[in-house]
Amino acid sequence: MANVVVVGAQWGDEGKGKIVDWLSERADVIARFQGGHNAGHTLVIDGEVYKLHALPSGVVRGGKLSVIGNGVVLDPWHLIKEIGTIQAQGVEITPENLMIAENTPLILPFHGELDRARESQNSVAKIGTTGRGIGPCYEDKVGRRVIRVADLADNATLELRVDRALVHHNALRNGLGLEPIDRNALIAQLQEIAPKILPFAAPVWKVLNEKRKAGKRILFEGAQGALLDIDFGTYPFVTSSNVIAGQASTGVGIGPGSIDFVLGIVKAYTTRVGEGPFPTELDDDDGQRLGERGHEFGTTTGRKRRCGWFDACLVRQTCATSGVNGISLTKLDVLDGFETLKICVGYDLDGERLDYLPTAADQQARCKPIYEEMPGWSESTEGARSWADLPANAIKYVRRVEELIDCPVALLSTSPERDDTILVTDPFAD
Ligand code: GDP
Ligand code: IMO
Ligand code: MG
Repeated sequence: MANVVVVGAQWGDEGKGKIVDWLSERADVIARFQGGHNAGHTLVIDGEVYKLHALPSGVVRGGKLSVIGNGVVLDPWHLIKEIGTIQAQGVEITPENLMIAENTPLILPFHGELDRARESQNSVAKIGTTGRGIGPCYEDKVGRRVIRVADLADNATLELRVDRALVHHNALRNGLGLEPIDRNALIAQLQEIAPKILPFAAPVWKVLNEKRKAGKRILFEGAQGALLDIDFGTYPFVTSSNVIAGQASTGVGIGPGSIDFVLGIVKAYTTRVGEGPFPTELDDDDGQRLGERGHEFGTTTGRKRRCGWFDACLVRQTCATSGVNGISLTKLDVLDGFETLKICVGYDLDGERLDYLPTAADQQARCKPIYEEMPGWSESTEGARSWADLPANAIKYVRRVEELIDCPVALLSTSPERDDTILVTDPFAD
């Protein structure tokens, strides 16, 4: 039986949610392994729109186990609110179909405050984060002062953990001119939320290893995208977790040998939210058109996404760092009607041609995209469900993308709707 990891291969918002939902029909377990509610995954099923942030995109299908792994950072108040919203849309969420790893770090209110305080302090330090406390919580995890799900079960431990965290945070807040944290009020808040979270807590590593041995299929749902990875992204304009496929293993506690297929989700053009380099960014009518046709506004923050041409050079790089076996090309329909399409095939750095994005920030800033042009198509691809429905030039574009990124297309998506998806190679096939 195959286990599949889904990862974003650009700067996030590639359409991971739609593809995870579509693939989850073939899976038994759907597990988030990094990130938090900075993610915004949109599913459209028969016109009904679901926006998921902390919950795995598998929850909307009945009969599947959804898992929040230890690699995730979890805001318990947000989760309870999100469960309420999704339940109001008719989806059942119980400890039978949702499990949270006991060793998952908790995002607390002061993490969000710190995130937002840093973002507003001065423009030099600004990353353009989602303001949801993701970075500060991961810092606390690595700093060995985070509060984890299991700590909610015992008051004495909880108090110790809070005191440990506050030694650091109150000193930091003092420097930032913020009020110190009210210890007892925070403990009371945590004690109040604990009974709502603890029923979902479980040793996820154990459950998943048992499922694997029983031949169940696990679908790992990545958040963000490889160019936001803490190591391989456009640092420091990145998120605070490893996003690439290797993280699926440590983010739930399953061996790397259990992963059979890595599916990279790739948008047919490029978008990015927040600050940071973006070689193929367009600030002309073509960029405007991509944003309008693609409805490129953030699912989590509502911010306008920056838009640009497809960057094959970057995607070849991200397919390599994640070991992508096949891609799902999404939003091809957004390119309908362009007379000419451009694809970035390399960079010009001070007169030298590069086939990858260098690491040094000053060099990244000087990289000028080298474009190849392709003819567009005037026909509509929206809602296409087979290759036969695609115009010849659209097929040529897809084939050229495959060549340039050195990776085959396994799935093609032609609209936000679940079933407007073309299957080329089944990632779950043995
Ligand atoms: P994610 O974060 O990777 O899950 O992506 P988002 O949900 O943030 O953004 C992708 C957006 O594109 C959502 O509004 C989806 O409904 C939409 N979408 C996904 N696939 C397609 C597609 O093939 N065509 C079009 N037009 N929209 C799509
Ligand atoms: P999904 O899963 C796009 C970006 C933020 C910011 C940077 C750091 O929907 O693809 P953070 O709040 O994580 O510290 O912000 O990362 N970012 C995303 N961009 N899609 C996402 O998630 C993102 N999650 C974080 O805009 O630039
Ligand atoms: Mg998103």
